[in-house]
Order: sequence, then C-alpha cells, then structure tokens
Amino acid sequence: EKGGYEHFMMKEIHEQPKAVEDTLNSIIKDNQIVLDLEGLDISNLSQIHFVACGSAWHVSMACQYIFEDLTHIPVRVELASEFRYRNPLLSKKDLVIVISQSGETADSLAALRLAKEKGIPTLAIVNVLGSSIAREADYVLYTLAGPEISVATTKAYSAQLVLGYVLAIYFGKEKGLLEEEKVRYYLSELNTLPKKIERVLEDKERLQWFASKYSNAKDVFFIGRGIDYAISLEGSLKLKEISYIHSEAYAAGELKHGAISLIEDGTLLIGVCTQSQLYEKTISNMVECKSRGAYLMAVAPYGYYQIEDTANFTTYIPRIDEHFIGSLAVIPLQLLAYYLSVSKGLDVDKPRNLAKSVTVE
Ligand code: F6R
Repeated sequence: EKGGYEHFMMKEIHEQPKAVEDTLNSIIKDNQIVLDLEGLDISNLSQIHFVACGSAWHVSMACQYIFEDLTHIPVRVELASEFRYRNPLLSKKDLVIVISQSGETADSLAALRLAKEKGIPTLAIVNVLGSSIAREADYVLYTLAGPEISVATTKAYSAQLVLGYVLAIYFGKEKGLLEEEKVRYYLSELNTLPKKIERVLEDKERLQWFASKYSNAKDVFFIGRGIDYAISLEGSLKLKEISYIHSEAYAAGELKHGAISLIEDGTLLIGVCTQSQLYEKTISNMVECKSRGAYLMAVAPYGYYQIEDTANFTTYIPRIDEHFIGSLAVIPLQLLAYYLSVSKGLDVDKPRNLAKSVTVE
C-alpha cells in the first residue's frame, strides 16, 4: 500500500509530479484552459478573498502574489478561523475562494457558509470528491492528487498551487490582461513542472545527509520575500509538524524587527531565494544572521551560484517562470522535514496531536 516506500508521506512526495500533471490535464485541453465557471462575472470582480487553514492557507498566500500580478484584482488572504468570526466586509462583486484538501475542515466550511449567506459567489478548490465544501460551493475545481493518507500534506498542496496558477492565468486572460501568446507561454512553462519536480526529487540523498547533521536542531528559521515567503511558511509548518523542531517563517525584512534576537551560534536559517527581483535582499538578511552565528541553507535556482559566497549549504532547483517556481522550491523543504522526522525516529505519517481532517473548530 505504501508502494515500496517506508512511509505514506514519502510515497506522496513522489506522487507530486503525477498529482500536478493530472490536475493540469484536467483543466488544460489542447493548450486551452477549460473551466466551468459559467455565470461568474470575472471581468467585474472587485476583490478576491482566499479563505483556508494550514497548508491550504499557505497556498492562498502564494496565490495572492500571482493573482494580483496576473489579474490586477486586489486579493485578501484569510484564515478561515478568523474570517468566520469577524463579520468580514464583502461586496456582491467579490469572490470568495475556499481551498481545502479534505473539503471537511470545520472553519473553512463555516467561512464558506458565511459568504453564501451574504450572497457572495463562492469557488472551492477541493481534493475530496463530494465533500461538504465541494457540495456547498457555487463553483468547484478539483485537485486530482488522489487520496492523501499522511497527515502532513504534500501532493494535495502541490496540486492546489497549480490549480491556483491556472485560475490566475484564466482570470488574467478573461480580463484582457494576458494575450494569447502570453497564456500559451505560461501553459507551456506549467507543462514542464512535473519533470522538474522529478528532477528535484533526484537530489533527495543530499537532503537526507544534511538532515542527519541537523537532527538535534532546536530552532530553525525560514525566510523569503514574496512567493518565497509563502513557501517559507509551508517549509516551516512541514518541519514543526512532523519533526517537532521549533521553527518560524519570516518575511525576510521582518526578521530585524524582533526575531533576529533569537539567532545564535549554530541556529539553522533557511533562505528561499528564487525571485530575481528580491533574492539579493534576502541574501543580505542571511548575511546579517550569519554574522550572528547562524548556519545558512539556501534554496535557489540553478545558475545563482554566487549564493555559495553566503550559504553554507545550497539546494538548487530547475528554472521555470518565477510565478511557478515555488512548486519546485517547496520540494526540498518537504524532504528536509521528512528526513529530520525519520532521523529522530518519529511517527512521520501520524504526528502527535494532529488529525488529517480537522472537523471541529
Ligand atoms: C499541514 C496540513 C494542515 C491542513 C489544514 C487544512 O500539513 O495538512 O495544515 O492543510 O488542516 O486542511 P484541509 O486542506 O483539509 O482543509
């Protein structure tokens, strides 16, 4: 049942190329995006509210940057557990997008119902067919990740991300912001993702080796800017939930407003450096931490070799259009969390205190 892998999580990590490919194939036919959103007035949307919990909230954070860039629609990203108790300001021209693997998360479902009560159009991105959120939303788009057993999500997260990308491209096109040629370019870039994820997975032994050195780490920091910040949030959650190592994700520039006081000799700091407009800024934050004793790991695209002047250990990922590179940057972070959990002898697939589906608030 684990397909030769020791844990479901590792099996599911390796199923990511397929989860991404199947999800893309379900909504891209003959180089055209095919989505059933009949009746949704995309060109007049005034705001998009992404509402989710946990990793699905991290997907929403990544989507924020991509949607605003490709659609020029203002985006808010909301934790479902906050949104539902806040009497949120919503207009009939808004769209509420709920992202959920299980489709049963209590807070996400309550947030969806709240939006519906107020007469706001709702769209759900869900993995489990016929789940409550899928049934109740006005529009549903399914991730085709297949059943996910491991409590820590990997392949559903990756499938949610690509659905988000395609939706952003579609909205941008419907609003007349993206020409045919640009759409074709984005779709052809997206089609390279499955192979490139496989390529990242080939480097797993290096991460296993690195994890074996760091299994006694007490605190780990993840930093990045823009999409890299969204990926840092996910890397940090993966690590803490399955390896029980305390970790924090910070928008790189925010570190010096408090948390940098926690950096001491040997603290592991992981910089996600994939965005060409931003990575030099993140590197300068990494340098500041190194001078305070931090040990630096970097995730960067092939070709950014100057990062080795700063980082002690670098994992390279293939290049792709920068909107989509988070899908590659997250893979080494999943692997690192996995190997740290294994090297500590923990129950990778069923971490303590956690449930796969959080159906109570
Ligand atoms: C983390 C994880 C959780 C879920 C969260 C939402 O690895 O799996 O943070 O992302 O509980 O669950 P769904 O997506 O089912 O609504």
